[in-house]
Amino acid sequence: MSDHPCHRRKTQTHPQSLFVKGFVSDAKKTMNRIEMGRKQQQRKSWVMFVCVTLLGAALITDLLFCWTSSSFIIPYTFNSKEKIVIVDTDKKQNVIHLSKTFADLPGPQLKWDKMTDSPVPRLDGAAIQINDQLFVFAGYGTIDLVHSHVDVYNFTSNTWGGRFDMPKEMAHSHLGMVTDGRYVYIVTGQYGPQCRGPTAHTFVLDTITKKWNDMPPLPIPRYAPATQLWRGRLHVMGGSKEDRYTPGVDHWSIAVKDGVVLEKEWRTEMPIPRGGPHRACIVVDDKLYLIGGQEGDFMAKPNSPIFKCSRRNEVVYSDVYMLDYEMKWKVLPSMPKPDSHIEFAWVVVNNSIVIAGGTTEKHPDTKKMILVGEVFQFQLDTLKWSVVGKLPYRVKTTLVGFWDGWLYFTSGQRDRGPDDPTPKKVTGEMWRTKLNLS
Ligand SMILES: *[C@@H]1O[C@H](CO)[C@@H](O)[C@H](O)[C@H]1NC(C)=O
Ligand SMILES: *[C@@H]1O[C@H](CO)[C@@H](O)[C@H](O)[C@H]1NC(C)=O
Repeated sequence: MSDHPCHRRKTQTHPQSLFVKGFVSDAKKTMNRIEMGRKQQQRKSWVMFVCVTLLGAALITDLLFCWTSSSFIIPYTFNSKEKIVIVDTDKKQNVIHLSKTFADLPGPQLKWDKMTDSPVPRLDGAAIQINDQLFVFAGYGTIDLVHSHVDVYNFTSNTWGGRFDMPKEMAHSHLGMVTDGRYVYIVTGQYGPQCRGPTAHTFVLDTITKKWNDMPPLPIPRYAPATQLWRGRLHVMGGSKEDRYTPGVDHWSIAVKDGVVLEKEWRTEMPIPRGGPHRACIVVDDKLYLIGGQEGDFMAKPNSPIFKCSRRNEVVYSDVYMLDYEMKWKVLPSMPKPDSHIEFAWVVVNNSIVIAGGTTEKHPDTKKMILVGEVFQFQLDTLKWSVVGKLPYRVKTTLVGFWDGWLYFTSGQRDRGPDDPTPKKVTGEMWRTKLNLS
């Protein structure tokens, strides 16, 4: 077994491995360090850029106007990644450079049809498409109420129906989930409302008989781990650790076939380059892709009897990693902007990965969570990212399906309106658009 992934762990020399080690020892400090390092690296060139821009602006427009208004924002495109520079004129030379944008990216307006709402609104739920059915699992209804059932949408009849219960012991949000076309493998996740702890309990669902079975529990529970079937094995990677915040880089797998687990125990695999929850994990053409995600998340307030959620520092990233037959992580071109909360917000169409919505970096001033309203395409032949359209609103942890040329999305938490990208309403709305990829 010389090609066993574990045996290659030491040879892994990944640019992010520094980050990984740091996070294991002290996630928060490292996040700050990364952020500061990034800023320092880029500050010089940005100061230069801002000077040039200001000079240009001064020549073309009214210099006085700029320097008497309290602040202004210059959007700018740099190295194909959208960047924003804020110049606070009250503090004169105090230039804040944001490493990545929190702003909307331009993209074509798509024509969206509003379909029937799901029976319940849900946030942080999970979805699995099998042929013309979208199985929609679990999720928060409100922060104090979690669902313990499955709703099913039929893309042919465009109706909801066939609700059935989940096992009582199954997690209600932040699940890892994947299907082989009939059986759905469900691993770990958060058990209960607010910011409660995770469970290691795992299940397999037969979507034809609607029967649930247990699988061996994950060695350690995780929140929102990347989960996929690859080369006959169920792989579970990353997510947050038991405190809901600390990024995990552990990677386990177990052999499965037709809903049956073929081994007694999970096997330890090569760790992932960067840990954390809420990323898209996709297998296409025998290659496994890890897209976006974040480090850090809300945590339970210490000693809170209801495990009340409290906000912590988060770093959202645009990283894309790929694992192929060489069993080595490769770095692919990053997303057009950092994007997280997309674990069930993707489909594969015509050799492209299509991703809808999510969350990006927090607003630098208000520190509020910023939702994403773009539909992204990642062409797997050219490895090119593009924005193929805009959603009717920005939305996170939305659940996406594709059928008969239509891209569907349902559920998640949407924005406050076109001018306010911060999260508000948990929704059960279902929308669709005719997708046209070039
Ligand atoms: C979905 O609806 C169509 C049209 O009513 C029906 O023919 C089909 O059997 C349904 N699919 C499933 C899996 O029930
Ligand atoms: C996928 O490719 C087929 C064949 O070229 C094309 O007819 C179809 O419109 C494409 N689908 C999308 C969503 O662009």
